[in-house]
Amino acid sequence: MRNPRRIWYALVAGIGLLAVACAKHAPQTTLKPEGPVGRKIDSLFTFTFWIAAAVFVLVEFGVVYLVWRYRHRDDRPEPAQVHGNTRLEMTWTAVPALLLLIVAVPTFRTIFELAKTPKDPIRVTVTGHQFWWEYNYPDYGVTTANEVHFPAGRNVEFTLKGVDVIHSFWIPRLSGKHDVEPGRVSRISMKADKPGVFLGQCVEFCGLSHANMRLRAFAQTPADFDAWVAAQKAVPGQPPTGTPAGDGFALFSVKGCSGCHTVAGVSTGTVGPNLSHVYSRTAFAGDTFDMTPDNLRMWLHDPPGVKPGSKMPNLGLSSTEITNLVAYLQTLK
Ligand code: CUA
Repeated sequence: MRNPRRIWYALVAGIGLLAVACAKHAPQTTLKPEGPVGRKIDSLFTFTFWIAAAVFVLVEFGVVYLVWRYRHRDDRPEPAQVHGNTRLEMTWTAVPALLLLIVAVPTFRTIFELAKTPKDPIRVTVTGHQFWWEYNYPDYGVTTANEVHFPAGRNVEFTLKGVDVIHSFWIPRLSGKHDVEPGRVSRISMKADKPGVFLGQCVEFCGLSHANMRLRAFAQTPADFDAWVAAQKAVPGQPPTGTPAGDGFALFSVKGCSGCHTVAGVSTGTVGPNLSHVYSRTAFAGDTFDMTPDNLRMWLHDPPGVKPGSKMPNLGLSSTEITNLVAYLQTLK
């Protein structure tokens, strides 16, 4: 042991990494699937994992045994050198080939099962933007951002589209990930067993705020989902003039917010997220910040300062302007 300290460091780092697996609150684990698609992928993973684990243990055992058995000793002559052994070579070619075949059968079956178009799905078009997700429901005429809603127990078919760089759409507990590429339309479907909230994340490095491109899926009861759709379709009312919200409403056009954002009945911008019902969401800016008045203040004060690479510019708003805009945003439920 030339450097025992280094070995200690490696050991501590290794144990630390291992301990990560003990995390109780792991909302993005793939190992506890909550829907049929996730379960299919998970059972294929488990099957392949145990075959790989058996191969690993056997090979490592063999290597360690041979190293130990034929280690150098001053009084021991060099072991006999063997070249070529037809039977052995046939075996270690045939056994891995057979193992690959055994893994290939369920793999291909799962690939084809997952590629099937589901029956009677809720259809959602997902567009990846730097750094947020846009959702369109073509059958309902609803557009929203970052937080996607659908009924539990029903298939959801996501049509994935990219407009700038490559992103990747992933809700780990429901399904595998799928790249979102500009100029290419792809599909991924999934289903949640029961109502619940599932966290997701962009999983293709897409720029400075890749890590801040999160998402949240709300699997709801059919009644809750219908109520959500109805609320999203409603056209927000305009706040009365002379109030902070009314002043914020005026600023929304004056400061150019309306050029980039849609608010139903007010503006039709498509550069940033649709804000018609922004305050009904639990978080904003790529699901990065909880939807609170304080966080909105922080955001409006300097968007690229709190979310690097954000396309929303620092508009140099005064404290009063921010107060009024936040008051207006709070009316967009
Ligand atoms: Cu989008 Cu990473």
